[in-house]
Amino acid sequence: MQTNKMLENVQTIAIIDNQFGDTGKGKFSDYFSEWADIVARGTGGNNAGHTVVINNKKRVFHLIPSGITHKNKINILGNGMVIDLKVLTQELDELEKENISYENLMISEDAHVILPYHISKDKKKNASQKKGGIGSTGRGIGPCYADKIARRGIMIRDLLDKNIFNQKIEKVKERYPNEEIDAEIILKELEPFIERIKPFIRDTISLIHDFKKQGKKILIEGAQGLLLSIEYGTYPYVTSSDCSINGTAAGVGLSAKDVDLPLGIVKFPYMTRVGAGPFPSEFDTIKSEKYCAAGYNILTELKEYNIPYTEENKNIKYNHYHENIIKLMNSDDPFLQGVGIRLAGDEYGATTGRPRRTGWTDLLLLKYAVGINGPNIILTKTDVIRFAKEFKFVVGYDNLKSFKRDLSILKNSKPKFKTFTGFDEDISEIKEYNKLPESLKQSIEFIEEFADCKVRIISVGADRNQTVFK
Ligand code: IMP
Ligand code: MG
Repeated sequence: MQTNKMLENVQTIAIIDNQFGDTGKGKFSDYFSEWADIVARGTGGNNAGHTVVINNKKRVFHLIPSGITHKNKINILGNGMVIDLKVLTQELDELEKENISYENLMISEDAHVILPYHISKDKKKNASQKKGGIGSTGRGIGPCYADKIARRGIMIRDLLDKNIFNQKIEKVKERYPNEEIDAEIILKELEPFIERIKPFIRDTISLIHDFKKQGKKILIEGAQGLLLSIEYGTYPYVTSSDCSINGTAAGVGLSAKDVDLPLGIVKFPYMTRVGAGPFPSEFDTIKSEKYCAAGYNILTELKEYNIPYTEENKNIKYNHYHENIIKLMNSDDPFLQGVGIRLAGDEYGATTGRPRRTGWTDLLLLKYAVGINGPNIILTKTDVIRFAKEFKFVVGYDNLKSFKRDLSILKNSKPKFKTFTGFDEDISEIKEYNKLPESLKQSIEFIEEFADCKVRIISVGADRNQTVFK
């Protein structure tokens, strides 16, 4: 594993997302899992989705950290998470099918539990963008965290004591007058799942403190992205946890200051957002936001733009550099350009299949993210824009000097760009920074200067060895 000097004297790393999610955390969680003894996740639930390759098969996991595919690592679902037991059990089944051991899994007794009434409320209120919802993933995340903050949440440990569970459910009932909530029925449904996870329930907060003292190497795996954080994101168009370095560390029982190397991931030079909410650098934002909410998926787009594809076991394959995609990417119509980048980057939700909205990477956002998550940056998906005649970054807005979370300003801001010449070379096999195309290097140095950050790694392909250290 090539890590140059980056990991000297480092005991704890966090992989966090500096944009709106989906920047490719999975690849780097997997990459650094090899180094770590402990892999821990601190926020969110099955709203997240990371693709993991097991026995040459692609699997999407929502809860279990990527470290599970590496032998003898301890994997922790931390206190800051919200856990749907049924989904967790399904993931354990998948692992079993593939003969992957999960005996070192630990589930925090302090994590909160997503229950059926959370999901039903989320689907009714938040999921549909067409009905004015924020376009949540509909997994019950928001209502579950709302109950946590309102002090009526059900924690993992409560599942182990029927009396406590019943008492707590009584409190919940007042809050959900329109739901039929019956403690007996809920417990009965959950019983097989509870039995299944019981052996793994731990006081993970104390344990992680012990691990730290013992000098064990810890990888904290983030979820979602900074701009979706309840604390720093484009509120109210956010998820309900703090997915910054602060919430992510807190969610595993540590403090951000315990993290020796927080690595913030940035998709480059384009970025994406799923669901509703401001995305000032989006290609043709008005048309694109509506279009992406309308229920299209990857197949609709492949057919619409005449891109040949094959489909096997739900695995859709196509040439990401197909001439029609390159044409779209270089189109004068920003909406079509956005479609082209989406197809080139295969930007469709791992959890919901929704098309992701696309735009050039916003360096004002990056500057803001660096202020919170720190200066160390990983750039991902750089290979996607191969054959683009030019690529750009947003370096300012007509009405905004630095990023702020004021929706009325963000809605009306007009971006200013810095443009770089594109490249046609295949960069996916490059291993040394110096060999990257000149304009790409110039652009990397430009963003370091602009956002006062340090680019440590450039990802030039999906594979773990398609990784360039700077
Ligand atoms: P929720 O987390 O399901 O409540 O959804 C709130 C917002 O966060 C919606 O706009 C979702 O699309 C977005 N979101 C939640 N999880 C992810 C993720 O893992 N990647 C990208 N967007 C996400
Ligand atoms: Mg994802």
